[in-house]
Amino acid sequence: MNLHHRASTAPERRGAGPEMLEPRSGNVSFQEVTVRLGVRAQRLILDRISLNIPSGQFVCVLGPSGCGKSTLLNALAGFVMTSGGRIAVDGDTITTPGADRGVVFQEPTLFPWKTVLANVSLGPLLAGAASNEAERIGRKLLGRVGLSSRCESFPKHLSGGMQQRVGIARALANNPRVLLMDEPFGALDAQIRSMMQHVLLDVWAEVGVTVLFVTHDIDEAITLGDRILIMGASPGRIIDDIAVPIARPRADDVIFLPEFNHIKRRCFDHIRRESISAFAQQDEV
Ligand SMILES: Nc1ncnc2c1ncn2[C@@H]1O[C@H](COP(=O)(O)OP(=O)(O)OP(=O)(O)O)[C@@H](O)[C@H]1O
Ligand SMILES: [Mg+2]
Repeated sequence: MNLHHRASTAPERRGAGPEMLEPRSGNVSFQEVTVRLGVRAQRLILDRISLNIPSGQFVCVLGPSGCGKSTLLNALAGFVMTSGGRIAVDGDTITTPGADRGVVFQEPTLFPWKTVLANVSLGPLLAGAASNEAERIGRKLLGRVGLSSRCESFPKHLSGGMQQRVGIARALANNPRVLLMDEPFGALDAQIRSMMQHVLLDVWAEVGVTVLFVTHDIDEAITLGDRILIMGASPGRIIDDIAVPIARPRADDVIFLPEFNHIKRRCFDHIRRESISAFAQQDEV
């Protein structure tokens, strides 16, 4: 596993090699999606969000704390009921969680009593794969995240970054159309975080899955995304949709490019303004 981003592009590497899992990705659409939460669903959390994410796109979501980023992701995951509108993946309306959407949270949430391999193989096993096939998938994905040598380890014997790599492998084990990531590297230090970003970009380049990635970190969003959605303060809505036309692969020094800083400035101005607004609103509650 090369932890520095390799000099290849996603389309060239997708589907290469006979043993790879079949790559697939989904087209995501939100049509006027509203979410209300709280006692008798009184609080408007997401306000008529409309959005289309083409297959294979890597979309990052930025916004002030409490604006509804996790709610947006959880609605697509099927963990949160919508109060209005429609969410669909490849035209199929989302009403419940499903194996077609893999989820990675900030905490790895691995089963501590299962080995790393058993954690990753569990999804395919539950989906009906024979145990040797589930294991083959698990080993392949653990190879992709650079953990082939840790298959028989238990989660508590791995570092936080390693556990999160297992979490990514596990989320991919059912060959999802969409990978949903909610601040997955938020608890990691800067060095590990940078390495994890490269691991994720490598894996994404191989499997071509559509990604919705929530982060607080503007640099991370620009380094990873094809596109950045900025959410405004409560009720959550999308106030800007920014393309990131920076060529891939993106090396660590991408942060010094003028276009990087141009996008960073635009994100920063939004986040600062919306954070002040969100803070004032939270203070009123
Ligand atoms: N189950 C719930 N019941 C009531 N309100 C909720 C519930 N879950 C979330 N909220 C509220 O919805 C709003 C959006 O929460 P959400 O977790 O989506 O924000 P976020 O943008 O992910 O924040 P952060 O950046 O801090 O993770 C917040 O005001 C939160 O208090
Ligand atoms: Mg959140």
